[in-house]
Amino acid sequence: MLDIKIEKTMNPKPIPGPENPLVFGTIFTDHMYVMEYSTEKGWHDPAIMPYQPITLDPSAMVFHYGQEMFEGLKAYKTEDGRILLFRPDKNAERAVNSNKRLMIPEIPVEDFINGVKTLVEIDQAWIPTKEGTSLYVRPFVIATDPFLGVRPSNTYKFIIILSPVGAYYPEGLNPVKIWIEDEYVRAVRGGIGEAKAGGNYVASMAAQVKAHEEGYSQVLWLDGVERKYIEEVGAMNIFFKINGTVVTPVLNGSILPGVTRNTCIELCKEWGLPVEERRISVDELEEAARTGALEEVWGTGTAAVISPVGHLRYVNDVFQIGDGGIGAISQRLYDTVTGIQLGKIEDTHGWTMEVGNAR
Ligand SMILES: Cc1ncc(COP(=O)(O)O)c(C=O)c1O
Repeated sequence: MLDIKIEKTMNPKPIPGPENPLVFGTIFTDHMYVMEYSTEKGWHDPAIMPYQPITLDPSAMVFHYGQEMFEGLKAYKTEDGRILLFRPDKNAERAVNSNKRLMIPEIPVEDFINGVKTLVEIDQAWIPTKEGTSLYVRPFVIATDPFLGVRPSNTYKFIIILSPVGAYYPEGLNPVKIWIEDEYVRAVRGGIGEAKAGGNYVASMAAQVKAHEEGYSQVLWLDGVERKYIEEVGAMNIFFKINGTVVTPVLNGSILPGVTRNTCIELCKEWGLPVEERRISVDELEEAARTGALEEVWGTGTAAVISPVGHLRYVNDVFQIGDGGIGAISQRLYDTVTGIQLGKIEDTHGWTMEVGNAR
């Protein structure tokens, strides 16, 4: 594992107090982590430095060909003053897989985790403690060769930034309305859908804007070939409870393998619920909604943890799920996962990782 050089800021910024509403992704902490890559040296010279703009050549390849990977995870402060990361090893492993697909050199898992832990420890005063808040961690890699022409870059920067974030839903768990998209597609098998790459998100924006204009908060994507099978939501994986069985789309190459998805599958199995990872068509879903077999729908992702779905729209039909409120499994998953993340529920799975020995 590489040693990280640390340079602390001489001008710390004011830390927002608990009275400030923390709008997701708008405030950044005092420090950032940067590690360089070159073909000759490999990944080298990791450093933590004051948070600052980066200077890149206008021809830097990331601007032209989108060679970029990112990750997202959270750090929490427990009531007894410990700092916990939730399954950072999973994010580090997913970054390795994303990088492989995007022809970016792999970042060793231990350097990824060490970078996150060290930066969070240095900026620990920024971890908010109000109910539902946390410190969002955004690691990302950009291709930096000053070159026009399509090929993998020979130089990269791996950067980590931190942002204190509020409860995704200030009023607590809140059922969302989801738009099943029938015009645009996000990804196809063989493409980059299962990598966490910026390009996947720009592909999603047109549908997202359309859905927002129609009063829906998120888009649910269908497969890119037949436009028939359910894939995932804009920034969440999706689960259905149909006749007592928990069903989620199988990871088929165009879906992001969510850390929260994996967590929910493990918990549901432990609770004795039958869980199926399989293809599920929009026709099957419509039929289940019509007959009342569709008991619950929820999304899973780092930002909101669990998002109960109250309504689904597909072409000209709108379906209410159950009574449109929060289902029992959604609530139980939310309480359990956030309980473990905040150290309120014993972590019997080894999912949390403690940072430093902060008090
Ligand atoms: C497209 C997409 N699917 C699913 C997820 C959920 O993944 P995770 O649970 O690892 O946050 C995310 C968020 O990271 C996402 O951007």
